[in-house]
Amino acid sequence: MSDKLILPEHIGIIMDGNGRWAKKRGLPRNAGHKKGAEVFENISRYCRDLGIKWLTVYAFSTENWKRPKDEVDGIMNLMKGYLKNMASARNEHIAVRFIGDRTPFDAELTELMEKAENADVGEVITTVQIALNYGGRDEIVHSVREIAKKVAEGEISPESINEDTISKNLYSGTPECDLIVRPSGEERLSNFLLWESAYSEFVFMDVLWPDFTKEDLDKALLEYSKRNRRFGGV
Ligand code: FPP
Repeated sequence: MSDKLILPEHIGIIMDGNGRWAKKRGLPRNAGHKKGAEVFENISRYCRDLGIKWLTVYAFSTENWKRPKDEVDGIMNLMKGYLKNMASARNEHIAVRFIGDRTPFDAELTELMEKAENADVGEVITTVQIALNYGGRDEIVHSVREIAKKVAEGEISPESINEDTISKNLYSGTPECDLIVRPSGEERLSNFLLWESAYSEFVFMDVLWPDFTKEDLDKALLEYSKRNRRFGGV
């Protein structure tokens, strides 16, 4: 990639199309998720190589519990496998954080998540946020509840609440998202980073997530760089 490109600080990716990728090959849907998880790892490393500060990926939404149990279990097991491997990848310079409601997860997954978040990865270049049991509306509800508690305890006054207060009480510890990439031909936000995407650029791509390559990310970054971001100004 050329140095002249304007790179986003924070990229969000909706990892979509795993099921269709598997179906095209006559494989079970979980085979698509498995390949999708490999692509996620490669793209995380590529973001690190490019010096992207934040990458947020949509791995499991609050609506995904409606899927068949074996598919849900398959995704949770992939997550466990990834987190176990991570523990041995000490010097990757990639920090991992989770956003979403953790309460429904089993003790093994919760422990692995905490371990990963506290792992020593050396100097952090990229922080990967994994959205797991995440919903953008749920995140805003979470923020409002946190703020309500502080008001009830007299810590803050209702008049002092502003946009920054809402931002600070979200799950996400990241700045707003600059670029949202959605592969697989769908052109929706699907309850991903609702608050953080107020000024995001969107790039929709026809490739399915398990086929997504570094070159595809380059194309999205080039498109991002070409767009003139004015934040409502002139
Ligand atoms: C959407 O594709 C994808 C998901 C709901 C799951 C994404 C999960 C992973 C890529 C694995 C997560 C693991 C790690 C380690 C991050 P879809 O199933 O809706 O695809 P379809 O629209 O083609 O059916």
